[in-house]
Amino acid sequence: MRVTVVGSGYVGLATAVSLAYLGNRVVGVDVDGDKVAALNRGKPPFFEPHLEEMLTLVRPNLSFTTRYEEAIPQAQVVFIAVGTPSSPDGSPDLTQVKQAAEGIGRYLGEGFTVVVNKSTVPVGSGNYVEALVRRAFREAHGGEPDGRLAVASNPEFLREGQALHDSLYPDRVVVGAEDRRAIEVLRELYEPILEQSFAPPPFLPRPERMGAVPFLTTDLASAELIKYGANAFLALKISFINELARLADRVGADIREVARGIGLDHRIGPRFLQAGLGWGGSCFPKDTAALLAMGREYGLSLPITEAAREVNFGQRNLLVDKLLAELRTLKGKTVTLLGLAFKPHTDDLRESPALALADLLLKLGAFVRAHDPVALPRARQEVVLPLEYAETPEEAFKGADAVVLATDWPEYRTWPWERLRGLLRTPLVVDGRNFLDGKALAAIGYRYVGVGIPALGILSKVEV
Ligand code: UDX
Repeated sequence: MRVTVVGSGYVGLATAVSLAYLGNRVVGVDVDGDKVAALNRGKPPFFEPHLEEMLTLVRPNLSFTTRYEEAIPQAQVVFIAVGTPSSPDGSPDLTQVKQAAEGIGRYLGEGFTVVVNKSTVPVGSGNYVEALVRRAFREAHGGEPDGRLAVASNPEFLREGQALHDSLYPDRVVVGAEDRRAIEVLRELYEPILEQSFAPPPFLPRPERMGAVPFLTTDLASAELIKYGANAFLALKISFINELARLADRVGADIREVARGIGLDHRIGPRFLQAGLGWGGSCFPKDTAALLAMGREYGLSLPITEAAREVNFGQRNLLVDKLLAELRTLKGKTVTLLGLAFKPHTDDLRESPALALADLLLKLGAFVRAHDPVALPRARQEVVLPLEYAETPEEAFKGADAVVLATDWPEYRTWPWERLRGLLRTPLVVDGRNFLDGKALAAIGYRYVGVGIPALGILSKVEV
């Protein structure tokens, strides 16, 4: 099929390369000329595992342009995958969606075209997009597109850091549309994914025991709400375990054991029960805020979603309290953060809990030094906080009063902790993800403090 994808962020690019991999002719449209030029040279605009390999692999089927007139007229399916950042009141800013819909309407071709919303947009946006496309078409052509146009919602559930894996091997594909033809076109487009009939790329093997993928078809509004429902539920699952972790700290329980015991119940499941510094990123904070804004619009409060946010943003203060309890004051102390990205395997810093923690520590008079395996170049460009950056483990540890693990990058587990200990002023590790081997660290002389787990080791006196 001929497919166009407007927007080349995580969702847009993952969609574009996956559909190109399946043999479709795909054109990506983006307003950013530099990004388009880089993508046409096979260079991704951000770090995402396997994206660069995939761009090379699908090159014959995928090109990028800034011009709607080159990308829209031939397309049978046009995905809108542009950004919907939060407005000050929490509702998503739909400026880019509007621009995309207008660009599409202006250049709509002669054939039947399905315009698909993949951006996370409030319920009702499908109708809004259709109205905008129709209006732009009228203004450009003086008539109606009539039956040539149908709109669908196809929410995306991919995780950053696993975007390509999640695009090729999703748990489900959800399509909401009022027009049956739109559903049929999308079913055909997704068939290789639904049937898992494609040969996997060598670097992205199919998960074992993966069967056919459920294709859920529904109305526009339900599809739009499914996206918010899924993200808010995952966010509150994490907040729930974080709330319980606070209690575990008080009663002397180990939240990892509690999470295991809870998660073995099939109705609950083990995933997204990892206590720690809480969630960040481009989705959970924005989508929970948008859900609350949507509720307000209808005079409805959503207290569970509200509480999930409150607990989440409180986790950063909890980490500060733990540091204060160990060090008494943070004034003039150097705290090293291991990890700046909002989670491992990405260099995305949006709403990163690590940065929120850094901000609190700076306000309390600490010096904050940060290490990240991939996000430092981006941090140097984007972060306005006065952080020091460490490129190596040695630079990170030298003269620091505490090390806080903020992002669970696997390589932190294999750092030479025993050798590095001697570089610290105080051998204190606060593990904001309950990720390191606390027993091993305590055995080599560290004081180890986690979230909702018993602290280990004793804090030896200041050595320098
Ligand atoms: C999320 C959803 O998972 C995805 O389906 C949706 O399409 C977009 O939003 P993403 O933001 O990429 O994906 O990251 P995710 O892996 O869900 O993690 C979100 C945050 O929660 C991270 O900051 C992570 O560190 C944190 N987290 C996750 C926890 O604190 N505990 C957990 O148990 C799981």
